[in-house]
Amino acid sequence: MGDGPSASGLPNGAAPLADPALARPASMQEWFEVTKEGRMDRMMPPWKNRLSDEEIWDAVAFAYSLHVTDTSLDQGEVVWGEQCSQCHGPQGAGDGPEAVANGWQMPDLSDLNAATARSDEEWFQTVSDGGGNMPAFSSSLSEDDRWAAVQFARTFSYEPARTPTLAAGEGRLLGKVVNNTAGGEVPAGAVVTLHPFENFEERRPIESTVGPDGSFTFDGLPAGDQFAYILTTDYGGLPFGSNVLSVPTDTLQADVTVPVWETSTTAGDISVELAQLFVESHQGNLLIGELYRVVQDGDRVYTGSEPAASGRNKVLEFSLPPEATALAMDGGEIGGRFVRTNNSVIDTQPLYPGRSQILMRYLLPYTGTSADFDREMSYPVDNLSVLVVDGPKVETDLQETDPQTIQDQLWNNFVTTNVAAGQDIKLRLSGLQRADATAAGAMPATPALTTAVVAYHPPIVAGVALVTGILALVVFVAYVLRSKPQHAVAVAPAGTSTSADGDERQALLQSIARLDDMYAAGELGEDNYVVLRTAEKRRLVQLSEPPVDDSTDSAAVEAEVSTDPGQSDA
Ligand code: HEC
Repeated sequence: MGDGPSASGLPNGAAPLADPALARPASMQEWFEVTKEGRMDRMMPPWKNRLSDEEIWDAVAFAYSLHVTDTSLDQGEVVWGEQCSQCHGPQGAGDGPEAVANGWQMPDLSDLNAATARSDEEWFQTVSDGGGNMPAFSSSLSEDDRWAAVQFARTFSYEPARTPTLAAGEGRLLGKVVNNTAGGEVPAGAVVTLHPFENFEERRPIESTVGPDGSFTFDGLPAGDQFAYILTTDYGGLPFGSNVLSVPTDTLQADVTVPVWETSTTAGDISVELAQLFVESHQGNLLIGELYRVVQDGDRVYTGSEPAASGRNKVLEFSLPPEATALAMDGGEIGGRFVRTNNSVIDTQPLYPGRSQILMRYLLPYTGTSADFDREMSYPVDNLSVLVVDGPKVETDLQETDPQTIQDQLWNNFVTTNVAAGQDIKLRLSGLQRADATAAGAMPATPALTTAVVAYHPPIVAGVALVTGILALVVFVAYVLRSKPQHAVAVAPAGTSTSADGDERQALLQSIARLDDMYAAGELGEDNYVVLRTAEKRRLVQLSEPPVDDSTDSAAVEAEVSTDPGQSDA
């Protein structure tokens, strides 16, 4: 849609390729040319020296599928069967019975060279007005049907991704949209979208409209271990969602709540339940990780009132040392969700009631062998700890407590409680490795800090199910599972160990480790974590089961994946 984080820096923005109004008049060949040669007057760089022609075609084909919806392809398929196939043939090759009987000269719509030379609009004109032996459809088919038929005709030369529909079943899902804001109305007429997953692969979403009391029903759903469901709804322009639903029984009859809240431009009580600062020195830089578990104690979604530089509202603002470099935020980009100012970083994402989490990393240069780490807390903090990788001498007013071992690394631990907003946290580190002037710059790969930040964090309980986060996660899991070599797994007799099994096992273990990290970091609520992890573990056990005696191998797998998150070897 032309809304990527770098688009706001362009004089004319970026073209919204997914907008049918922009895509329909263009042919794929035109887009290929622009991508290859660039259009510098509009700040579109040429890609010819960086991507091969094949890679450019792949990217263009993907971009050209963005304005096409699953529903219009379905609709077009029906129109094609009824109105077009008798001449053009079922696969668009021009071999339909009517064309053959009349000996007509037919275009081959499955010819990629011909198809990519024509825009949707050119084809639409032909379908509407006819030409030669092609009849005009402008009076017999609606405009919508004609566009749909054109879009379907493209699938003969290239297949735009179409999400498969969900198989029919006996299950029924009952639920309710509940407004959790005091005095809030039930959003009558709201649309609830059901996102089904089958073995973590997305199936076509299904929509339903809520009744006057917020209730909704989805019928005819398949149930069983391999299915998972998430419900989402939009309310007041914001996304809300349920937890992931697992349906372990054969008949699905579930009750589910989709919570929504009203919005507010007035901040309620915002505090930090837990702040953890991680400090490590690396060649003239302090490498800092900061983790804040934020609590919004109101019953409304806080959307901010003051515009931030990006045109979005400022919701949270955390102080940041002006000399910080290589800032990276978890969960969003600088210039997108996050905006950096001279001495702070702003989060523009609306803040839902309950807990959420901010995680940032940056470098702080020092000179000589000592450094002052001086941090102003932007919000009141209940519990704060600063963990410093063992080595330098630390002087601070904070209380030193038991050191922590995280990922085989000893961290000295300095704590305090009840820090007021605006109060400074000060540490002086001396005896550091002498700063090396040439080493500053990119964030070094330091396993200690990056893994420690997620590993140490104690598990969070329930939180607001941030819809986009969960969907992204399920899609990520699907990606991991899909990237396995499927053939080899499918043809291998049960229990035979193949290298494909090994690859899938590896992918699953990585995915489980990542789920653990996300859960430990509070990015994933308990319910979702349990559902997703159980499903993956089940697949892992399945994969390791010998055909007859399944006690040994699956027990080993069990041991391998059952480590609690938060422990150092998770
Ligand atoms: C009676 C036979 C017939 C039917 C039915 C028919 N077409 Fe055609 N179509 C043709 C012929 C013949 C041509 C070539 C026209 C020409 O030579 O200008 C053609 C051309 C086209 C083209 C232009 C191809 C190109 O790149 O030049 C498109 C697109 C197309 N048809 C789509 C459709 C669709 C979509 C339908 C159904 C809604 C349809 N046609 C129904 C016979 C038919």
